[in-house]
Amino acid sequence: MGEKIGPEGTGKSGRGEVWILPDALHLARRGADMFARAAQQSIALKGNFAVALSGGSTPRGMHRLLAQEPFVSGIPWDRTQLFWVDERLVPARDAASNYGAAEKDFLEHVPIPSGHIHPMPVETPPDEGARMYRRELKKSFKTKEGEPPLFDLICLGIGKDGHTGSLFPGQSSLDEREKWVLPVKGGTPYADRLTMTYPVLNNGKRILFLASGSEKAGIVGRVLQGRLSGLPAQRVRPVGGTVVWLLDKEAASLLEKGKQVHDT
Ligand code: 6PG
Repeated sequence: MGEKIGPEGTGKSGRGEVWILPDALHLARRGADMFARAAQQSIALKGNFAVALSGGSTPRGMHRLLAQEPFVSGIPWDRTQLFWVDERLVPARDAASNYGAAEKDFLEHVPIPSGHIHPMPVETPPDEGARMYRRELKKSFKTKEGEPPLFDLICLGIGKDGHTGSLFPGQSSLDEREKWVLPVKGGTPYADRLTMTYPVLNNGKRILFLASGSEKAGIVGRVLQGRLSGLPAQRVRPVGGTVVWLLDKEAASLLEKGKQVHDT
C-alpha cells in the first residue's frame, strides 16, 4: 500500500525515500510496521534496539498502534531502549508533555522494562537537564570519547516552519557540533525545551519522518523539492543512515509528481 517516490534514502545523494499513504491511519500503520521491522532487524543484528521518539500530534496514531497487536507481542520490548528527541519542560501529566503522551498512548500498554524508558529530565533547570541527558546517553550507549550515540531508529516530525525535534529555524542550536542535547526555547506551545542536536540525529541509522495533513503540504514541498535552504528538517542528513518520509496524501499534495527529491 502506498506509492513510493524518490530515490532510495541516502543521507548524501537525496533527501530520502518518500512514501505517500492514503490517509493518516495508513501512515500510522506504515510507521508502526517500520518501527517493528527496525526493532527486529536491530535485535537480530546486535541484540538490542535503541530508538528516539519525537512529540507533537503526528506520531500519536503510530504510538497507539504500538499498544495493540501485532506490535505488543511482535516487538521485543525487553531489548528496546526508548529515548526522546526533544521534550517540553513541563510535568509528565501536562498535556504538552511528549513523554506523558507516549506513556498514555503506548508505554502503559507494552511490556517494556521501566529502566529502558529514558524520559528527558523536566524538573531541573534546562542547562542541568541537558547535561543530565547527555550523561544518560553516554552511559546508555557506552560511547567512546566524542563519539555520538548511534540510534537504530530516530522518529521525527516537522513543523510548518521546517523545525524538527526542537531545532528551530535561526537558532544557534542548529550549529551545535559537540553537545548532543541542548536547552532551547520555542515552538508551539512556546516553552523551555531540551532537544537532541545534529551530531546525534545525523549519526542515526534510520531516520523516519512522519508528516500528515494539508497544513504540512507547503513545508513538505519546500523541504523535499525546494532548494536546500538550511531548514532544520533539511539538515537531517545521516552520513551512514537512511531517511524515509511517510506522508499522507494531504501532506504530499504539493509535491510535484515525477520531480525528483534529489538535491537540486
Ligand atoms: C515537539 C516535536 C516537534 C513536532 C513538530 C510537528 O516536541 O514539538 O518534537 O518537532 O514533531 O512540531 O508537530 P505536530 O506533529 O503536532 O504537527
